[in-house]
Amino acid sequence: MANILCTGIATVDIINELEQYPAEDDEVRILSQVKCRGGNAANTAVMLSQLGHQCHWAGTVVDPLTGDNDCRIILDDLQRHNINVQYSQFLAQGKVPTSYISLSRQTGSRTISHYRDLPEYPFSAFKQIPLEHFDWLHFEGRNIQQTLKMMTFCRKKTRKIPISLEIEKPRETIETLIPYADVIFFSRQYALMNAYKDPRSFCIDISQSYPEQLIFCAWGEAGAGAALQQQLYWQDGIKIKAIDTLGAGDIFNAGIIHQQIKQQSIQHSLQYACQTAAEKCTKKGLIS
Ligand code: FRU
Repeated sequence: MANILCTGIATVDIINELEQYPAEDDEVRILSQVKCRGGNAANTAVMLSQLGHQCHWAGTVVDPLTGDNDCRIILDDLQRHNINVQYSQFLAQGKVPTSYISLSRQTGSRTISHYRDLPEYPFSAFKQIPLEHFDWLHFEGRNIQQTLKMMTFCRKKTRKIPISLEIEKPRETIETLIPYADVIFFSRQYALMNAYKDPRSFCIDISQSYPEQLIFCAWGEAGAGAALQQQLYWQDGIKIKAIDTLGAGDIFNAGIIHQQIKQQSIQHSLQYACQTAAEKCTKKGLIS
């Protein structure tokens, strides 16, 4: 099994389950409420740890004794999943990034309102990490200037360690990160914002611009595509009744990383990641 470093955020998620997503100015009753750890890179690390890998998570946290006590939820959960946080940045003060999530019982959709007021994880902390101990480095495409420094640093220090990158939100200059990764996970949201209605043509076009990168794009219940050197791969979605789609993308990414580490084919990796993400959607919470 591999040593994996996931760099990005961990959040506190307050998940309100509703009968259906409310209209503006409605007053609705919450059916159940859960407060738990979330965050893309942290979710991916948890899944990879469950698959048997040794995972480190690098991000910003707050000391629960002097700052936001909710950070306990994050730290306890990461510890429970055997995730090492020694390279994270611990701040004395601050509020942990918090997501207020409306989960619809009718459709399983999750609507996220995110609040953050915490410094992002800086390159100054990242550059202390002994990268040679890792077999795979995963980044979230956020905090672009600092992440760019981290990724160029990785490339200078270690040519051979595979790097994956999640491009979820269309953030300004996010594309500058792409040349420094080997595997890229684009979201449906990113493709749609770039006027693509079809994941296949999105994957092919992106692959034309970045022929060296292995491109993935998950498209919810429809399935997921991949492309390398303009060759397209496709996996139909697995038919399920969605109960909770929160974090499905993060689980998909972990599934691909896991299979790529095992040097499985692109088609097999796609099939496995779609299956695992679909399974996640049939249950409340992350797979445990
Ligand atoms: C799911 C998730 C949530 C978190 C939000 C952050 O992918 O990581 O756990 O609140 O996205 O954007």
